[in-house]
Amino acid sequence: MKYRHLGKAGIQVSEFSFGSWLTFSQASALDSTVEMMSAAYDAGINFFDNAEQYANGVSEEIMGAALKKLGWRRGSYLVSTKLFWGLHEGPNEQDTLNRKYLIEAIDGSLKRLELEHVDLLYCHRADPSTPIEETVWAMHNIIERGKALYWGTSEWEAADILSAIDIAERHHLHKPVVEQPLYNLFERQRFGSAYESLYRDHGYGSTTWSPLASGLLTGKYQNGIPSGSRGANESFDWLQEQLTNKERIAMVAALAPLAKEMGASLAQFSLAWCLQNPFVSSVITGASRVEQLQENLKALEFADRFTPEVMIEIDRICGLG
Ligand SMILES: NC(=O)c1ccc[n+]([C@@H]2O[C@H](COP(=O)([O-])OP(=O)(O)OC[C@H]3O[C@@H](n4cnc5c(N)ncnc54)[C@H](OP(=O)(O)O)[C@@H]3O)[C@@H](O)[C@H]2O)c1
Repeated sequence: MKYRHLGKAGIQVSEFSFGSWLTFSQASALDSTVEMMSAAYDAGINFFDNAEQYANGVSEEIMGAALKKLGWRRGSYLVSTKLFWGLHEGPNEQDTLNRKYLIEAIDGSLKRLELEHVDLLYCHRADPSTPIEETVWAMHNIIERGKALYWGTSEWEAADILSAIDIAERHHLHKPVVEQPLYNLFERQRFGSAYESLYRDHGYGSTTWSPLASGLLTGKYQNGIPSGSRGANESFDWLQEQLTNKERIAMVAALAPLAKEMGASLAQFSLAWCLQNPFVSSVITGASRVEQLQENLKALEFADRFTPEVMIEIDRICGLG
């Protein structure tokens, strides 16, 4: 495993990290969570991503219980959580980054995670109804109280991130240092253009999500939705639409020979492609079973096999060439 700096921050994250969205969702999943986190850690993964909203807090509880069982030295790993959607109904506790919500919500997350602090705390989405200045101060205060070490954004507009950096600089507050954007072979426009100056000029880090487009880039949706897969989950119609998108399925078919030529599975090929971008600090991977994680970890072996010709061909297939 190689490690990359989180932008220009002092902390380093493993090139692949491991996230818990939709996978650590039932208390009964503790054993498999321990198994997967253990396999990830043994392979050198040092960053585990979570969010208050994942399974309404249950994901944090399971990760907390798993960490307790695993007993790793706290300095050897990083944990994140993300705040925005909230767990309770009411005007001040949902879809917000107001000061009261943030200051109280972090305590709930820490309790569920059974940790004294998270290493990275993200604002899971932007909140146009709260002044950015209020959010920046609240995140600064959370860090000053030792409940988080670094903070960042997820899916914020670049202009809002620049505004948060500017406010923090003017008031000598802790600045946001990392964005958590969607980034995969199909979804790279925003990462590649809008955020470019943030990475280049401000040394902003990035921990990217859904590198396999929820599994579509593994090739397993080529003949419809397999049972037991994420796409078979009926509560996510928006996801089913993406996973059955004919244009994307055709692109996956066209990418398959390139992966084969490299000796990689489509999943490995798609994951290794994300690492070609130097502005990616860590690719947050997801897996429902340890076998998937093991397959995905082998993608690291292919990271240096992407020639300029292959990159051009990939862009052509994905409609960017
Ligand atoms: N900031 C945000 O807004 C945001 C949003 C989403 C995710 N995230 C973070 O990013 C992490 C990763 O996102 P993601 O889970 O969407 O990643 P992903 O890599 O796009 O999808 C992971 C899913 O694909 C399937 N899969 C993975 N490897 C496979 C393999 N080798 N063969 C077959 N199927 C395979 C599994 O689903 P099935 O087996 O169930 O089909 C797995 O759960 C999340 O856990 C979360 O921490 C952040």
